Amino acid sequence: MKKLLICTGGGDCPGLNAVIRGVFKAAKKTKEWEVYGSIEAFNGVMTEPTNIIRLTKAKVGGIHVKGGTILKTTNRGNPLQFPIMDEKGNYTLEDRTGELADKIKELGFDAVINIGGDGSQKISKALFDRGVPIIGVPKTIDNDLYATDMTFGFQTAVQIATDSLDKLVTTAESHHRVMIMEVMGRDAGWIALHTAIAGGSEICLIPEIPYDIEKVLQKINSRYEKGRGFVNIVIAEGAKAIEGEITATLRENGSEHLRLGGVAFELSSQLKAAGCKAEIRETVLGHVQRGGTPSAFDRVLATMFGVKAFELVQNGEFGQMVSFQNNQYTSVSLEEATKDYNFVNLDNFLVQGAKRMGVSFGD
Ligand code: F6P
Repeated sequence: MKKLLICTGGGDCPGLNAVIRGVFKAAKKTKEWEVYGSIEAFNGVMTEPTNIIRLTKAKVGGIHVKGGTILKTTNRGNPLQFPIMDEKGNYTLEDRTGELADKIKELGFDAVINIGGDGSQKISKALFDRGVPIIGVPKTIDNDLYATDMTFGFQTAVQIATDSLDKLVTTAESHHRVMIMEVMGRDAGWIALHTAIAGGSEICLIPEIPYDIEKVLQKINSRYEKGRGFVNIVIAEGAKAIEGEITATLRENGSEHLRLGGVAFELSSQLKAAGCKAEIRETVLGHVQRGGTPSAFDRVLATMFGVKAFELVQNGEFGQMVSFQNNQYTSVSLEEATKDYNFVNLDNFLVQGAKRMGVSFGD
């Protein structure tokens, strides 16, 4: 029997368990492979044997419905930048992928499937370059991975954010308030953009379009002047204002809200400093966007990513990342997959279409 190892690294994401199940079931059917999972991604490999578990029907049955990952995950101990402390207590970052590659060989694995975001796929590439037979599976709620049209988890996150926005709309309307809802997305505005369109918000602020606070205020005021006495704003966690007088003054004065760190509070402070008369309330959605049951769409995407990843393993086509492009399950080299990010392109029809419907991006 050949041995296959699965790892889930980086932040968790709805659909991880569906990938694990997809790989397991496809592998089991061939009767040629035993499937193992590493607890806490590659940390498990370095601390085996207790953290390498054999996957069985009983362990994997029905897990596609559950969020999170049965293999646990970690953001700590990136083998490409492993923190080493010297005797003076100073840290340096070491590349430990050589040691990791040796350990994977020593444990007798014939293939590895690494499910993770951009950081994890950089590790996949480094391990492949060191001779590890590895396949990457793209994962992130942020949808910011290059070389795939979509990552699983994204659609679920957008649904959770949209459901929350729907709830905020009714309370905004009742109180004539400005509601600011902050969503995740790291440096990309995909979750914010989709949520703003799905929920019908008037203002959408994303990292790719630095906003002018005066323009945001103009949009708010025009809504109130027209008698539409409430405004819903979706802001991505990576959004930033153009550095203007108001932001600079708030920073100099050490505004309490700016110190809180959340961009929802930051925007609220900026609006008040710019003279916004309406009452403002802030909501930071945070990790609820990553929790719970994956949507049906994400279960399908994740399951088929798992099946496709195993197909590549079976064909010996290593050094690839599975990908979803033009409605097809395909693959790209890890080299290609890790060379860039997928930011919102300002010419994207979603941005242009939203603008044509009157959504303000504050630009
Ligand atoms: O990449 C997924 C993500 O949820 C981002 O949207 C967010 O910036 C980050 O992870 C949060 O990371 P953590 O769970 O470590 O706080």
